Amino acid sequence: AASKKVAVLGAAGGIGQPLSMLLKLSPHVGELSCYDIVGTPGVAADLSHIPTPAKISGDLPAAGSWPPKGNDGIARALTGCDVVVIPAGVPRKPGMTRDDLFNTNAGIVKGLVESCAEHCPGAILAIISNPVNSTVPIAAEVLKARGVYDPKKLCGVTTLDVCRANTFVGEALGKDPREVDVTVIGGHAGITILPLFSQVPGFMDAVDEKKMDALTVRTQFGGDEVVKAKAGAGSATLSMAYAGYVFTENVLRAMDGEEITQCAFVESTLTDAPYFASPCKFGPDGVTEVLGYGELTAYEKGWFDKMLPDLKKQIQKGIDFANN
Ligand code: APR
Repeated sequence: AASKKVAVLGAAGGIGQPLSMLLKLSPHVGELSCYDIVGTPGVAADLSHIPTPAKISGDLPAAGSWPPKGNDGIARALTGCDVVVIPAGVPRKPGMTRDDLFNTNAGIVKGLVESCAEHCPGAILAIISNPVNSTVPIAAEVLKARGVYDPKKLCGVTTLDVCRANTFVGEALGKDPREVDVTVIGGHAGITILPLFSQVPGFMDAVDEKKMDALTVRTQFGGDEVVKAKAGAGSATLSMAYAGYVFTENVLRAMDGEEITQCAFVESTLTDAPYFASPCKFGPDGVTEVLGYGELTAYEKGWFDKMLPDLKKQIQKGIDFANN
């Protein structure tokens, strides 16, 4: 049923606009709040003409909401939210890593999550703002400090890594990519991303080690292809919006009682990294179980051992930022 309230924070951006449009089309969304520091009245008025049940509002930090209604800014956007999706921040330029975004985006995410803690402490938060490996721990620390942290309700969105892996495997195997479902574990940046191709039925018979290595690296650095092709105009927006939509839609379906398993970057005891992406079961209140990721091949184990120190460092960087 179209009963859920969803907010997009950063809704006027390259990711935020197409993400808001896809959510306007969702059969589960009854109310969609578009919040940004600029542009959301226009985005909301525009989307409001699409004939689906979701009611739209566009809010700014101060005056100028659409439809017009006082100056309550982020409070109106967040109050009563079931899910808050956060793509606010600055995107990457060529030569920048996701980690280079840290200083700007860390502060933006910290501030927005403080508002979530205040106005919708029970909402599920889906963090897209990079570097996700650090912004998710920042969000957790903010929520902990406010006494409202629930690990089931905080996720970093790694769905684009799964989308890319599925696309590339579909190409390699000559299959419809919608029939491929690669488990991608670890984090959401460079070598912290580990697609487990060995678990894809038929993959190991069809693909040699050299090709597997190329597909692994392409999945890890797929975002760089987009950054390069956009030549200074930013990073992935349309594919990220699609991935953010798929993730959110799955969360909403689970809230409505469907059994859902999808990969997400969550608090985890699977490894000695305190946050780790792996397949998770979702239910009405978010993550109900963090599932394991099965046996790793020697090849995958090599990447896994290389990844963990990096991932732990990026997580700690977020924790330290939040507490200083
Ligand atoms: N509150 C709300 N929105 C904000 C804030 C804030 N404090 N600060 C910035 N924004 C908004 C910007 O106004 C802009 O509309 O976030 C939006 C970001 O959009 P873009 O600059 O187009 O960036 P985009 O490509 O969408 O990427 C955003 O997602 O994947 C990550 O690495 C990417 O961290 C980057 C983020």
